[in-house]
Amino acid sequence: MRRAPRGTRDILLQEAARWQFLEKIFREMCFTYNFAEIHTPIFEEAELFTRSVGEESDVVKKEMYIFRDRGDRELALRPEGTAGVTRAYLEHGLHRRAQPVKLYYFGPMFRYDRPQAGRQRQFYQMGIEIFGSGDPATDVEIIKFTSDFFARLGLLDLNLQINSVGCPRCRPFYLEQLRNFVRDKTALLCRDCRQRARVNPLRLLDCKNGDCRAALKDSPQMEAYLCPACREHFTAVLRLLKVLDVPFEVDPFLVRGLDYYTNTAFEFVSASLGTQGSLGGGGRYDQLVESCGGPPVPGVGMAAGVERIALAMEKKNLWPNEDVPSGIFLAVTGSDNEGREEGLALLYQLRAQGLKVEIDYLNRSLKAQMKYAHRHGFRYVIIWGEEERLSKRVKLRDLQAGEQREVSLQELGHLLSEQKGWIK
Ligand code: HAM
Repeated sequence: MRRAPRGTRDILLQEAARWQFLEKIFREMCFTYNFAEIHTPIFEEAELFTRSVGEESDVVKKEMYIFRDRGDRELALRPEGTAGVTRAYLEHGLHRRAQPVKLYYFGPMFRYDRPQAGRQRQFYQMGIEIFGSGDPATDVEIIKFTSDFFARLGLLDLNLQINSVGCPRCRPFYLEQLRNFVRDKTALLCRDCRQRARVNPLRLLDCKNGDCRAALKDSPQMEAYLCPACREHFTAVLRLLKVLDVPFEVDPFLVRGLDYYTNTAFEFVSASLGTQGSLGGGGRYDQLVESCGGPPVPGVGMAAGVERIALAMEKKNLWPNEDVPSGIFLAVTGSDNEGREEGLALLYQLRAQGLKVEIDYLNRSLKAQMKYAHRHGFRYVIIWGEEERLSKRVKLRDLQAGEQREVSLQELGHLLSEQKGWIK
């Protein structure tokens, strides 16, 4: 038997319905916060990610699905959404429109890593980005969105960790201090960190290896080296978060795995998901548009992982009650062909009114059809038999209330209107 490739999963039935619920809340939030949707390709030129996410980041160096197509182009399955959205922002001249431009997306991302609970090779992200404003209030809008989104799902016990990673003016000086600090400690570091110390010392701070953590415990912190502009920005972000009652914790070791961040970096972490506890994260990227070939345009954004949110919802028993009966089962009885044809016509009439309606295709008896309707969570059964055809009145049974009444065909749609809509 064939199986889905390692690190990928099929999402179906109950789980797919739950994802629809998450997507619905996310879209509603995007509507109220005025984000517009964008779809970008699943693959891009590999260089887009190398330049933006960073040549030396784990995401690019170890985890990117990279391949040559038949035209010998070097392409990569997108490991994240921000780079593609930034490319599209420039390609479609959105930087020439009134700013800020606020975009959102929902889709699969790909990272080649060792799969485990909450870590997939194909996983889904919901993301938002704001281009064209350096105002600290936009950092806060992104964070507040994320916090509101998790709160609407009932995920109230997440920790917001936040840090400033500085900018190209102040960061190099800090990195020098960090390098000096680890110079005599390289023997204590893991192999990756020994290389990080040379090529990308900021990454030293988020190594999960216990020995590296111990070695870095008293390392210099970025905060002490922020330039006045970065300091002012970070202070304003923290102040606004306080004003809006969004609790946070400044974590000087939070640097995130992508190289494009400047100044604000943040993550929402669940203590109950262990090492894969980051449900969503993001930050400011004021150099990204320029590094993708555009003018200097500031930006800030965030992405949340759908699988991890779903795991946290499951752990905390937060899924809405899924056993609410819905829809209508149209039980056609009698053996004559005409009756069945009229039954089929009624089926499509009701569906055309926006109702969810199902019919029997396996020639079951009325009793078996009733049983099926019960088992499959239908709220109503309409009985369409010989008698009903002649009188043009049907029996409408409410399986939830255990009541039955006779109604005319005209009345049906009106009576059932609460069953309309594709998602409850
Ligand atoms: P990220 O932190 O790399 O940020 O990913 C965001 C979220 O995606 C994580 O918090 C996590 O929930 C989920 N995630 C990441 N990798 C995996 C995986 N292998 N399996 C399952 N879930 C995963 C970004 O991707 C940035 N583009 C966020 C951003 C947007 N920054 C600014 N704008």
